[in-house]
Formats: sequence, C-alpha cells, structure tokens
Amino acid sequence: MPGMPQVLPLPANMHLHDGRVTVPRTARLRGPQASRVQARLGLPEGEDLLVEWASASDYPQPEADESYSLEVSGAGIALRAATIWGVLHGLTTLEQLEERGSLPCCRIDDAPRFHWRGVMLDPARHFLSLGVLEGVIDGMARLKLNVLHLHLTDDQGFRFRSAAFPALASPQSYTAEELVHLVQFAAERGVRVVPEIDMPGHVTNWLAAYPHWGTQPVKSSRRFGVHPGCLNVADPQVREAVRTLLAEVVDVFPDPYVHIGGDEVASGWWDDDAGVQAFLRAQDLADARALQAWFNGDVVAALRALGRQAIAWDEVLHPEMPAGLTVQNWRGATTRDRALAAGADCIVSAGYYLDLFYPVDVHYAYDPAAPEQALVEAEDHLREDPRFAHVAQGMAWTLGWRKDMPAPQASSPGRLLGGEACLWGELVDGATLPARLWSRLPAVAERFWSPASVTDVAALRDRWPAWCDYQVDDELLALCEPVKWYGRLLGEVALNARIRGEEMPQARPYDADTPLNRPVDLLPPESLAARVVLDDDDAALAERCRRWRQVAAPAEAELQPVVEAIRKACGLVLECLNGALPRSDAREALRALYRPYGEYMPAVILHLVQRLQ
Ligand code: ACM
Repeated sequence: MPGMPQVLPLPANMHLHDGRVTVPRTARLRGPQASRVQARLGLPEGEDLLVEWASASDYPQPEADESYSLEVSGAGIALRAATIWGVLHGLTTLEQLEERGSLPCCRIDDAPRFHWRGVMLDPARHFLSLGVLEGVIDGMARLKLNVLHLHLTDDQGFRFRSAAFPALASPQSYTAEELVHLVQFAAERGVRVVPEIDMPGHVTNWLAAYPHWGTQPVKSSRRFGVHPGCLNVADPQVREAVRTLLAEVVDVFPDPYVHIGGDEVASGWWDDDAGVQAFLRAQDLADARALQAWFNGDVVAALRALGRQAIAWDEVLHPEMPAGLTVQNWRGATTRDRALAAGADCIVSAGYYLDLFYPVDVHYAYDPAAPEQALVEAEDHLREDPRFAHVAQGMAWTLGWRKDMPAPQASSPGRLLGGEACLWGELVDGATLPARLWSRLPAVAERFWSPASVTDVAALRDRWPAWCDYQVDDELLALCEPVKWYGRLLGEVALNARIRGEEMPQARPYDADTPLNRPVDLLPPESLAARVVLDDDDAALAERCRRWRQVAAPAEAELQPVVEAIRKACGLVLECLNGALPRSDAREALRALYRPYGEYMPAVILHLVQRLQ
C-alpha cells in the first residue's frame, strides 16, 4: 500500500482524494520555451499530462512568481503555473508524489512563503569542484531552493579567476567560462547564483598577492579564524581595483545581487596606520566602523552603476550604512530587526548555520519571520538544551552580538526577503559535503517554502527517508555525533580563550591543509540510528544493549573512549531493566557519561536517558 506521499517541502495546500492514477506517459506542453520543459520531462506528445504556463525567461528573477497548481484525477493530470519556474516546482512535486508507478488523486495549490530560499557554500576554504556544485544545485531544485550563494573569496583561497588581477586566484579556482556554465546549469533548474567577494576583511590572500593594497606586510595563510589583514580602503587605487574586480564579476554573474562580505573586519591595521587615520580626519569619520560604512557606500554606488544591488553580512549595520544595501543576518536573533528598522532588506541566516553540527529540530524550529523575542528565547533555550551543555559557555560568548551598534531608523522598514542556510567550509570538502548538507537542508528548505504553521518535526522525519542516503556503516560509530557549535573548529584551547573573551590567533586543531578523512569528518551531525532506542519496548532495548556491548568496535584509537562510554551506558541500562539499578540512578549515571570524547559525542546516551524517563 502506498503511504503518505513524501513531498518535501510540504505544499501550502494539498488535498488527497481517494484513488490513484498511473503516471503520465505523454504530455501536452502549452507555454513559451517549451523545449526546456520537454528536456526535463522527456515525454512524447499526448494527453496524459497537461502543462500550462504563461511566461518564461532565461534567468530566474528574485521576485518571480513560483506558484503552481496540480490536479490529479481520473479525468487527467494538469499542472498550471504563471511562469516556467512554477512549472519546474510542480514537476518536482509530481515526481515526489509517484510511488510504484502511480500517483494519488489530489489537488495541490502551492507557492513559496519566501522568495529568497538560499544555500551558501564556501569553496574558498576548501575548493569544491564544478561537479560537486552541480550536484548541490540538482538537490536544491528537488527541495525548491532557488539561490546558491557562493562565498568565492576568503583568507585561505580566492576562487574567481580575474583577468585584471591574475595573481589573486588560487591554483584551484573557477574560470569565467566555468562559472558562466554553472550559472546556466543553475538557471535551467530555477536556481540563481549570487557571488560573494568578501571585503574589506578576510583578504589575507589578496594582500599576499598585492601587498600594496594593505598597510602592513602579510604572508599567505592556511589557518582559520579572523585574520588581522584588511584592505587599505583609504587608498583610491585600492577602491579602483575593487571596482575593476566587481565589473569582472558582474560580467560573469547575471544576478541582480552581488554579495560584498563585510564580516569580521579586524580593523587594527586601520587604527595603526597614520595614512588611514589622516583619511578618517579628512573625511570626518569617527572610527574604523565609520570607515567601513563609508567604503560600503563607495562599493554600493559602484555596483549600482553596474546595474547591481549589494548584499553584506550584518556587521555593516551602522548609523551611516548606505541606503540600498541588503543585510544578511547571521549574528544571532537581533540583527534582523535592526536591519529592517534601518530600511534595509534582510536575508535571515542566524539559525541556519549548517556548519554548527546542530540536529534537524533546531534549524526547523527557527522561523525567519518569528517575533524577535521568540528568537531570543530560542537562542537562550539552546544553551540550556543538554545536547549543547558541552559548548554552552562558548555559545554565551555570542550574547555580545545583541549589544552591537544600533542602526538608524528609516521611515519605511525594509523587506524580509527570506533565508539562507550557510555551510561554512573550514571542515567541509567535496567528500564530506553530502552528509553535512543533506542531513539538515531539507528541514531548512521546508521552513523557507511551507507555511509557518508547518512545524511538526516528527511529520517532517516521516517525509525524510528519501534524503538519508548518507548512513554510517559502522554500528557503534553510527550512534555518535560530532561535538557541536564551533567545538571542532576551535578545539579546546581556542574554545576556552573565546569563553574568556579573547579572539585572536590561538592554536587550533585544523587548518586548510588538514586532511578531512577521519571518521568524524564523515559523521552526520545528527545520529538517526541513535533514535531507534526511543521506540524500543524493554525487551527490544535489552536485546539491543546486549548486542552493542558485544559488537566489534571500530579500529580507530580516537573512537575507543566514546565506544567505551556507549558500552558502559548499555551496561547501566541492562542493570536498570533487570531491576538492579533504580531508574533515577541510571539516568544520572547516563547523563554523566554524555560528554565529549575528543570530537565525538555519544548521541545515543541522551536518547537512553529519555527512554528511561
Ligand atoms: C560569518 O559567519 N562570518 C558571516
């Protein structure tokens, strides 16, 4: 018997009727650029499926009508949409409705909640091949996501091959031709590509190539974390170079938006340089933040002259922030409303950082349009969640973001455009990307597409199995998760330094050359295997715990402590089940075992605590 259709994201309106019909074998296409729909469908002309749409364009525009309606009945199958983009979404839904050659009779009227439904990838830290990017775009289209934001430059890599400044490009970088191909590949699937050139911070490798763009000597870097180097934006030649570079970028990327970064500018170099300080006085700029705001005005104007709008990370919030700059929120719950109040459009990414190894429910619960107070409470609640106890002090470090600079009040607020899931790449390369991305992205995609009332995470999991093709083979390793938040990236020394409020260079366990080939690199952030104990009755649980105590442990030495903890936990559960240990004592002992073992968390132990409630 076919079950509930596994349509993800859940449509805005879906009514299932009795009966099923066989999948269409022929189609009649009525709309412009029909060959593109035909290429996707591959069905000969006929009456099984009617597809009708009114308009088409080569490149998806940010506010395109993506709605569609789908009618499946004994009388026929009809897909109708205003645009070709709605048709693509409708065909995706049709594919997801199919089970064993038939479709459920139904009526679906669907449209996205937000226009901007993005994914940010970071090929700067680890290069991602075009094949990997195309795979991501295909998966995004299946999830009805429509913006791929490429963070093309950072301290450790510069992936855009500039003709004017060839020394900028890292050995592994994309040619203009490759990027043009990628943009076209994405557009055919209804996905826009937004490039990011991050400045004036995160530019160590620009300065290694063109030292006169900075104010101090710098060496190229492979380490992670905020670097001291920043562009000398007081120098007109540097600003001219930036304009030249942006002109090249817009030649390749047709999207109306270009992301200019602006995050984590360590402005010590500006504070220390007599020339920059003289410039501040001449321009009547109070400090480094004011200089960045002034520079942003220059870049926004340059992009406007090129017919483009600028986006930047939320550090650009400033009383003198230029008009027309779209703000991407990432530093917690409060920068969204500061941006909107300042009249800036906003894209929400706090809550959707997929590099933090959070489980699905955390991202799913975060609504881009929720009242600020609810988002603040959700953040506070996270620090009390036992899953994050091991990093709660570090997470508290981010509370400072709530007190950052107020933005000006505009007479009319900006628009909430939507959201973007961000997968920063310090610990992500082509091989490790699938488990890291697809393990949580479907939940975020549903949050961006489906109505706000769709919040049942158990129902989401029921529609999930099609995405779980990244399972871990080893039975005991599959019960573990990587440590959360920035625990892996910072390591213990830097994590503790950050808790003390120190930020600058600390020894860290990883740099851009560290191979990502240990078990922790391939481990999904949330262990689905560990959840099985929640549904076990006592007999099944006892049987499972006996087996886990005996099954051979993986060979890696670094896994022995976490495996030992799981075995010990199984022993406690067995003692409890046979009456030798009171439940409350067993739970307390299990809780004590739930802590990091190197970079591993024994996820199953927390489920065992819950199971013994
Ligand atoms: C960021 O995460 N540095 C935008």
